[in-house]
Amino acid sequence: MKIAILISGRGSNMERLIAAAGASDFPATVTQVISNRPDAAGIGVARKAGIDTEVIDHKAFDSRAAFDAALDDKLEACGADLVCHAGFMRILTDDFAAKWEGRMVNIHPSLLPAFKGIHVHRQALEAGVTVSGCTVHYISPALDSGPIIAQAAVPVLPTDTEDTLADRILAAEHVLYPAAVRMIATGEVNLVNGRVVRANRPESEHKEGADITCPPLFSPEV
Ligand code: GRF
Repeated sequence: MKIAILISGRGSNMERLIAAAGASDFPATVTQVISNRPDAAGIGVARKAGIDTEVIDHKAFDSRAAFDAALDDKLEACGADLVCHAGFMRILTDDFAAKWEGRMVNIHPSLLPAFKGIHVHRQALEAGVTVSGCTVHYISPALDSGPIIAQAAVPVLPTDTEDTLADRILAAEHVLYPAAVRMIATGEVNLVNGRVVRANRPESEHKEGADITCPPLFSPEV
């Protein structure tokens, strides 16, 4: 399975996916990294790791559809089987999302469906939750709403700031994303009729997301 990773910034999740896929027993290869921002730090990290990189600057396009078409062309050209968003800060057109449905995933730094969109950690602190975490999900046209593949939970401490909570969740993301991509690449996890299912389970046991057990609970570093 060939993986293309889409980034807009630092690329720490991208780096973890590249590292995981570098292991001889990992069932997929990262073949392409694409950024919509020329200044994304992750581009340099990917280049150093020997991965083909491409910048498709969204500012060079006069519509969302035109940008998505260029992105689609590049993904087709590199033969991507799976597209992993890793801090890719773009809203997609419905057509693009629909075309890649079941072959495009994202990691989001909350336990979806709670706290979609931006300022996720601020939302969590303002809501007063005592547990937050991260979610790997298939991408659907609606933002942060696709079928859930895997989640990891972390505690929220009374002393947390947005930064300390973000750091704790990011550590969980770095474990969860490669684990979830491995499950997809082995065929253990699939999207069937809009629902996440695991291989070798009878239809009667298929439940969206809930039967995927990958819930490491991370201890706070205190
Ligand atoms: C991560 O928190 C990810 O969940 C969110 O954006 C952040 C990207 O961080 N979508 P990085 O670029 O992978 O370091």
